[in-house]
Parts: sequence; C-alpha cells; structure tokens
Amino acid sequence: MTVFSLADRLSTLPPYLFAAIDKAKAQVAAKGMDIISLGIGDPDLPTPEFIIEALYNGAKNPRNHQYPSYIGMKTYRQAVADWYKQRFDVDLDPDTEVVSLIGSKEGIAHFPLAFINPGDVALVATPNYPVYGIATNFAGGEVQYLPLLEENDFLVDLDAVSNDTWAKAKMIFVCYPNNPTAATATREFYERLIEKAREFNVIVVSDAAYTEIYYNPDDRPMSILECKGAKDVCIEFHSLSKTYNMTGWRIGMAVGNPSLVAGLGKIKENCDSGIFQAVQEAGIAALRDGEPYAEQFRAIYKERRDVVSAALTKAGIRHRVPDASFYMWCNTPEGYKSSEFVTNVLMQTGVVLTPGNGFGTPGEGYFRISLTVNNDKLEEAVSRISKL
Ligand code: MLT
Repeated sequence: MTVFSLADRLSTLPPYLFAAIDKAKAQVAAKGMDIISLGIGDPDLPTPEFIIEALYNGAKNPRNHQYPSYIGMKTYRQAVADWYKQRFDVDLDPDTEVVSLIGSKEGIAHFPLAFINPGDVALVATPNYPVYGIATNFAGGEVQYLPLLEENDFLVDLDAVSNDTWAKAKMIFVCYPNNPTAATATREFYERLIEKAREFNVIVVSDAAYTEIYYNPDDRPMSILECKGAKDVCIEFHSLSKTYNMTGWRIGMAVGNPSLVAGLGKIKENCDSGIFQAVQEAGIAALRDGEPYAEQFRAIYKERRDVVSAALTKAGIRHRVPDASFYMWCNTPEGYKSSEFVTNVLMQTGVVLTPGNGFGTPGEGYFRISLTVNNDKLEEAVSRISKL
C-alpha cells in the first residue's frame, strides 16, 4: 500500500492534546487499570430531556431533511440574539451579527482562514486551547504567544505588549473564563483590550464557551460585547456544549462585528453545509428554556469543586479555587514537570489529568483537573494521587 506523505502543516504538527490523552488513556485501560478520566472538559451529565424531545420532533419534520442554511436558520440566529440580550444585555442583529457553528471549535478553526494572510501575526494568550495557534498556522500565519501568569491573575498584561507587537498583529485570541486556568476577566481588562485593539486595528477573538459555568450569581462572567466599542473590533465564539451538556451535538455560534461574522460565514459557505436543522431546533429550545437546568448543573459543579479543593488541600497540592469554568488549575508537586507528573499519575493510578504544558509553555509546573465526573470518583481520584 502506498503511504502518502502529509502536507508540511500536518507533518510538523504535534499530536492534538486531547487525542494524545485519549490514546494514553486507552493504553493504560488495555492493561486492565480502572481509569478515572479528568482529562477533557466533556460534561458527564446528560443533555436535558426537553432538548432531546425538540431534536426528536425536529427530526420527524421532512422540512428539516434537506440542506440547512449555511449561516444557520433565522429562528436559531434569533434565539442566539435573544439569549445574548437576556443574559448579557447585548443587542445583536440576527441577520448580520450572528452565525451558527458546528460547535465553537469548528468556528475558531475556520476563522483565521478568513482574515489571516501568510506571514500575518496572531497574538495568543497562553496557556491556551490549542486550536487558536493551530488554526493560525493552517492559515499560513505566525503565532506570537502572550503569557498568562499567576501574578497577573492569568490576564494578559496588555501594557507589557510593545507597540511594535500590537502594530504587526492582525488578531488576538483571548478566552475568559479561561481554559485551562479558570481565571475570569474584569471589565477593566476587556475595556483596555478593546482600546488597544481599536488603536492598532487588531481583531479581538473572544472564546467565551465557559461563561455559564460560574459559582457566584452576583458576579457572573461577562461577554466582551458588553463593553462599549466592542463590536468595532470583536468576534465572540460561544457554544451550547458546556452550558447544556451538549458537546456531542456540535452546535455553537459566533457573534459580533458584522464584517468578521460575514468573513467567517464566507469560509463556512465554502467548507460546510451548516447544522442539521433538527439540532438547531433543539438548540433553540436549550437557549429559550435551558436556564433552570444550567442552574442545576452549576450547583453540581460547585459541589464537585469544593470536594476536590478540600481533598487537594488535604493532599498538600496547591490549586486555584475557580470562580468559573469546571476546571481546577493545580501546581505539580515540588520537583515535578507537568508531563512527568501526569504520566506518573496515569501509569500508577489510572487517573487521567491534563498536563499544564500541553496548553503552552507557561503551563509548565501545572496540571488541570476537569470536574466532569461525580463526587465519589473525584474523591477517589485525589485519594489515589495523594497516595503516590
Ligand atoms: C478541553 O478539555 O479543554 C475542552 O473540552 C476541549 C474542547 O472544548 O474541545
């Protein structure tokens, strides 16, 4: 059989973080070890029943059996606009400022193709979700990483970025509530970011997938679009995946500046044919009536967070107690590098963690726990780790 060589962009690419974790997990499971997987942020709770009903009803309707619209059904885009209004008090025109996505990963991966020319620079706040850098490289662009440091509450130190760097940047990727550190952005941070982006004509790409996983109802995470002038320079990616336990459904949205939304829409028109309309109808149901369920999920994650935090403290492992997201960002024990620690833990205990350096160099010395298994398993996982 002929083996064809991969294009350079793929042959030089390191393994995708979460696929590599899956592979390591499968190898250990094959040895008969009992695995507890805290590696990927994939909610374990089921999608609420009323959303499944909406899918079922939508699937029975022959109108939904043909190609969907490239940019999403008008009713779906309207539901997104209504949700943004009700949740963030942000006004969106469903015709020009909203596009449906086959999950936000797909949108983020396609976005640089619309705006990055070969050699253009994208700034990426790191540690980061790997897709920002990969997508920039796929588009022929170069990535300049901006470190997120504990001493700066994992916010980009915007004023430490030189004017030269701002001037050569085409776009900047930020993610708050942050994956993987769980840090949240302040209004001042977003305002300063918008100010800088407007000054230097830089596109702001905000990944906001975790805004609905929060623990203090009086201090809910913001959308960057709440800030004055945001629509001038920002596009925000969001998703139903984490909020309503719908990672497998592949449904999300990009919203914001009309020219950015239209550019992404144009790429998508050429690459995919939209989302099955029955899934969009289920998405509409989730956005309209999902809040009481999201509330219940938050309560469950909060309990898990507190269980893990107490167990980590007992085990002497330094960690941040997150205000938002279902991730715990923890320091590796003294003397351990991230990958070494995570590999040891997996091999000896069957607990799957994510190495901090897998999200970028400033993640070295950390590991991430995903609160996506029940309390008993979480306690068992931390107890196995502490016995190490
Ligand atoms: C993560 O674990 O960081 C996320 O689940 C990955 C994703 O959303 O694709």
